[in-house]
Amino acid sequence: MTESTHIHPIHDRMLSRSDRESALGQRSKVLWLTGLSGSGKSTIAIALERRLFQESFFAQILDGDNIRSGINSNLGFSLEDRKENIRRIAEVARLYLQSGVITLCSFISPTVAIRKMAADIIGVEDFVEMYVDTPLHICEKRDVKGLYKKARAGEIKGFTGIDSPYEAPVDPALTIKTEGKTIDESVEEILNHIIPLIRPESN
Ligand code: ADX
Repeated sequence: MTESTHIHPIHDRMLSRSDRESALGQRSKVLWLTGLSGSGKSTIAIALERRLFQESFFAQILDGDNIRSGINSNLGFSLEDRKENIRRIAEVARLYLQSGVITLCSFISPTVAIRKMAADIIGVEDFVEMYVDTPLHICEKRDVKGLYKKARAGEIKGFTGIDSPYEAPVDPALTIKTEGKTIDESVEEILNHIIPLIRPESN
């Protein structure tokens, strides 16, 4: 007998997701931004969150560096730890989703299998995969955190795109090519795509 045998979920007595969505005047989704380190995921997520607020939507960011210094501070960057990182994040995102909140997840989430796991936890119909498509040479040129330089020097092992894989999404809901675009342009592109998904259905 496992521990979970003694766990009795109380979902049937809780307020429903649609009650919360109606109160917030929106439909919740998980917007999942994937891409290399330095591709612009966090910057886009921050600007997108502000734009959503201006449009009276209620959103919340879950972001790589923040989550990794808190709930996932015991995890590293082996593929196994990255998988566990994303599994926990997907579970948290699912809770936000049930709260009616539009959840912006910004994680490298480097492989097709890892993102599929996240989609399965969240529910494929609520998982909106967005590929922040910035070529490696540009991420490396920007090197905002100085990590590519360290990775090239061998000071960081298993860095995504250098000596650890990144698999681009096969069929994302949206690909944002950031090269030559402003943050605002990328955000508008995303907004145009997601507003129809998060606006309450008219009756
Ligand atoms: S993920 O692969 O597990 O999805 P996550 O998005 O949480 O990664 O964290 C990525 C951030 O951790 C990067 O933006 C970078 O700042 C930092 N980092 C530290 N070590 C590594 C590494 N080996 N590979 C990639 N990112 C790293």
